[in-house]
Amino acid sequence: MISTRIFSLAAALALTAALAVPAYAAEGGGNGMPREFNARMRVCAACHGENGVPRAPTIPIIAGQREDYVLKQIHDFDTGARKVEVMEWMAKAMTAEEKTAASALFAKRNWPAKVTQVAAAAAPRGVAVCQSCHQQNFMGAAQAEGMSTPRLAGQNYEYLVEEMRRFADGERANNADMVQIMKGLSAADRDAMAKYLAGL
Ligand code: HEC
Ligand code: HEC
Repeated sequence: MISTRIFSLAAALALTAALAVPAYAAEGGGNGMPREFNARMRVCAACHGENGVPRAPTIPIIAGQREDYVLKQIHDFDTGARKVEVMEWMAKAMTAEEKTAASALFAKRNWPAKVTQVAAAAAPRGVAVCQSCHQQNFMGAAQAEGMSTPRLAGQNYEYLVEEMRRFADGERANNADMVQIMKGLSAADRDAMAKYLAGL
């Protein structure tokens, strides 16, 4: 009698454990990554947006951004080649595998539809130079050296204009070409370009 009861208790526990496996996988997002990873991705989404729309216009859209570009940025935040405190903490907490998986995850998502409609601006002068690397339609493109340029079309204006200033002032120096190019533009030129790009 007692042994039967112990047996059924053990069976019940085994059953619970067996049932917990699919529940765990579901909680893990069904993407084969451990729960810790998916919890971390929810942290990213808290700022970068659950549906791709960032919480604030100073935070970049990364849903639908080019995968190798995203991975390079996470790497640069980690090494300090690109200095942004909050992103440095985020990157340092990630394993190499998580960095790769996160980049693939965000790249696969859809770039969000515009929330605030930015009035389409006329193409400012000098934009052809940018197109030689960022592509005609500013969707970003793989470069001869292999690394992609980022998509700029439809990126947040506030984010774009601030990044362009940082390149110009040498605060963001993880790409020498961009530092050179932005140093050659006035603040007014950068502003016009950011408005144009955000409106695409
Ligand atoms: C507390 C808010 C916050 C959280 C959480 C956060 N980010 Fe960010 N992220 C930012 C901000 C702000 C920037 C822009 C930094 C700057 O000013 O240059 C950024 C920039 C980035 C960029 C660079 C995009 C570009 O266009 O260059 C990537 C990639 C990125 N974050 C990925 C992630 C990932 C992956 C996570 C989760 C592990 C994450 N972020 C969590 C706020 C956040
Ligand atoms: C020689 C190629 C080249 C040219 C020309 C160029 N870019 Fe870039 N740009 C890049 C690369 C590469 C990156 C990514 C740098 C990195 O790894 O962080 C970049 C990054 C950027 C970023 C940061 C995007 C983000 O998500 O953080 C902005 C904004 C930008 N470029 C705007 C421009 C504008 C505007 C022009 C024209 C005035 C221009 N670029 C011309 C190669 C170029």
